[in-house]
Amino acid sequence: MKLLAIESSCDETAAAVFDKNSLQSNIVASQDVHIAYGGVVPELASRAHIAKISAIVDKALVEAGTDITKIDAVAATAGPGLAGSLIVGLTFAKGLAMAHNLPFIGINHIEGHIFSAHIEYSEIAAPFLALVVSGGHSLLVLVKDVGDYKILGSTIDDAAGEAYDKVAKVIGLPYPGGPNIDKIAATGDPDFVKFPVATIKNEPYCFSFSGLKTAVLYKYRAMSDDAQEKHKKDIAASFQKAVIDAILPKVSKAMKEYKLDQLIMAGGVARNSALRTAVADKAREQGFTVYVPSGIFCTDNAAMIGQVALLRLQRGEKSGLDLSPSPNLTIN
Ligand code: KG4
Ligand code: ZN
Repeated sequence: MKLLAIESSCDETAAAVFDKNSLQSNIVASQDVHIAYGGVVPELASRAHIAKISAIVDKALVEAGTDITKIDAVAATAGPGLAGSLIVGLTFAKGLAMAHNLPFIGINHIEGHIFSAHIEYSEIAAPFLALVVSGGHSLLVLVKDVGDYKILGSTIDDAAGEAYDKVAKVIGLPYPGGPNIDKIAATGDPDFVKFPVATIKNEPYCFSFSGLKTAVLYKYRAMSDDAQEKHKKDIAASFQKAVIDAILPKVSKAMKEYKLDQLIMAGGVARNSALRTAVADKAREQGFTVYVPSGIFCTDNAAMIGQVALLRLQRGEKSGLDLSPSPNLTIN
């Protein structure tokens, strides 16, 4: 079974091809147009998807050594995401499915992140715990099976990646802020400022990153120009420490409460080197095997959408060609 998968929920235009369960190509085109604005501009994102999608899909097919006539099924992200972005990939995929008389399946983007670890680690078997930390989502999930989830907690305000991007903007680093903060934090002093870590009453697994972002803003604004330059990396490192301090105890508590043995961490922020190390150490300490995908499978990509599509198609599922984008789609 050859599968073509398309992802266009935010600002990455992506396509991937699987042959049986083996990934043959994974093309991701980022949109530079947003850099000047310090964040994703939805209208520009959908226009850039329209401009790129056909070439990206072609590239994925060529790199996989195939063409559309040899594809057996088509998948695309149906939500959540930006409406104007989702509609481009979804409509393109449905068009291909209709023209070539192929089964089509719409996939939940968050599910894609959850199963992104399966691309490289086929041994992962449900039930397992999943920490998804991205630009749009932060959640801790008990995965009982494909499509059977218990959300233990999610963010009540900003997502972790959103906090990274906003803090980067405050301290004058370009978008996307996460990788840039990651880089300069490596040589900064994480104890330079003790930023607050939010806990939410009666919601032990929920996150909140909005107060942290504001605390960084006030602290940074109160510093002189010289101090800002001199201590930029220390502010970045202190912020990053607070993010890890906010995430780690919740993951640890979940590992204690749900006596499983596998933890996966996914989403763009899972590329963060300090977070990867901290979570991996904690998981091992608690007897868990931790699976973190390679960077390319953490940030948005179509391989993760294809991975879920394969699991669902194998169960006989498919979607109708009348499927519309669902910007607010959830996983339960
Ligand atoms: O999963 P993703 O590509 O998109 C969403 O589904 O939201 O995640 C993008 C987010 C951005 O906020 C970006 O700043 C963050 O992931 N990110 C990182 C790193 N690389 C990407 N955050 C922290 N450290 C990184 N190395
Ligand atoms: Zn994502």
